[in-house]
Amino acid sequence: MTLSITKRSEALGAEIGGVDLSRPVSKDDFEEILAAWYENIVVVFPDQNLTNEQHIAFSERFGPLEVHPSGKYVLKDYPALLLLTNKRDDQGKYVSLRDGGSVWHSDLSYMGEPSLGSLLYSLEVPETGGDTEWANMYLAYDALPDDLKNRIDGLKAIHQFDQNDNPRLGPPPGMTAEEMKGSIWEKKSAEVKARTPDVIHPIVRTHPVTGRKALFVNRRFTTYVVDMDPDEGESLLLDLFEYAERRENIYRHKWRKNELVLWDNRCTIHLACGGFPDEQIRTMQRTTVRGEVPV
Ligand code: SIN
Repeated sequence: MTLSITKRSEALGAEIGGVDLSRPVSKDDFEEILAAWYENIVVVFPDQNLTNEQHIAFSERFGPLEVHPSGKYVLKDYPALLLLTNKRDDQGKYVSLRDGGSVWHSDLSYMGEPSLGSLLYSLEVPETGGDTEWANMYLAYDALPDDLKNRIDGLKAIHQFDQNDNPRLGPPPGMTAEEMKGSIWEKKSAEVKARTPDVIHPIVRTHPVTGRKALFVNRRFTTYVVDMDPDEGESLLLDLFEYAERRENIYRHKWRKNELVLWDNRCTIHLACGGFPDEQIRTMQRTTVRGEVPV
């Protein structure tokens, strides 16, 4: 019992202190971290000085890592690390994806085996803005009225990677082609689309470890309800998003440099809040742990 665990909000989120992730974490400490993670869904490890190798090594304790399906935005020598930064090259072009997603989402929910968890490490943080929010999808499910729970029981939804296939999303008005680069609005190549066919997942999933039911839909990747008229399905999804994104279910994280944040994609959604001036640099690196078929 060497670790300290301090809740960050009522709904979800806790800080774990007393562990140095640059060194091998003992079996006992790892068990404690797992228990705190399952309980709090999002855990923050402050004051970590991690090399790329150490970030990857700790992440691999949770399972095999994904290489981001975009095939881009990953570090050349460390394909398991997705680079999120607003840095530009000599020609003024963004060098990578600027953030992980400014629309609520669960990482890789558009894959047949969506990610079970992600580990995001802060290398450079802006003075203002750049926060990330997470919402607790167990609480979202629990809050649904019984008639809505009954209505979605057994229903499935389609998840799609290409935002251009998502009828509720469009680039912000006036966004230029240059600004679209390194944003979620960048056009996906035919190769990426072939690698990420549409998938179908249950609208409610049961967490394989905790056994709790969680809503498993998100504004960014969930597009249609299977076997339902598109307008009716959209109206149902919008109702569910309203429960998912309720303020009381959210933890907002103000980043400090050298923090590693681990979250569970099976029972939470998250949002990059943006709101920082382009001249303030925000650089993060993320590993994404392969998950299982949702049931
Ligand atoms: C992510 O969506 O994986 C990262 C969120 C962020 O950039 O704040």
